[in-house]
Amino acid sequence: MDALAPDLLTILIAPHKVLKARARAVTPADAEAVRALIPRMFATMYQAPGIGLAAPQVNVSLRVAVVDLMADEKPAPIVLVNPEIVAASPELATREEGCLSLPGQYADVTRPARVVVRFHDQLGARHEITAEGLLSACIQHEIDHLDGVLFVDHISALKRNMIMRRLAKEQRQQREDAAKR
Ligand code: NI
Repeated sequence: MDALAPDLLTILIAPHKVLKARARAVTPADAEAVRALIPRMFATMYQAPGIGLAAPQVNVSLRVAVVDLMADEKPAPIVLVNPEIVAASPELATREEGCLSLPGQYADVTRPARVVVRFHDQLGARHEITAEGLLSACIQHEIDHLDGVLFVDHISALKRNMIMRRLAKEQRQQREDAAKR
């Protein structure tokens, strides 16, 4: 490991009460903590690997998320502080989603195809972007995390229960395998 690399954070696995809680808005008093948190969140996300990570997933109940689709294998990091969806297209789009807090689990989720998102970055600068395609789904998924919503909350109870049971079983199996080693 690179001695200068940020320390990795532990990703919470569902079900966990922090994952179900609404995170609070970042205030100027949080600036230093958020500046320290963001490099660790990126390092944790890249290591996983994933394309998005919200602060509640690392047990920090603040409205912060990081996203990097790594299109063409090139980093394109986006920091979302206090993000807000200010407009959503009436057209919907369905994609398969996964989540680092539900490792190995996937389901088709339908969301608005395009969204306009306002947010601040880690330096406090304001941004407004129109996202479509994978970026739109990813940002909506991360903002959901800030509201205590997981991708499985968008699918039928039947499918959700199946996924949660499978996840619990796989996690138990992993713990048992780890104990044997
Ligand atoms: Ni997620």
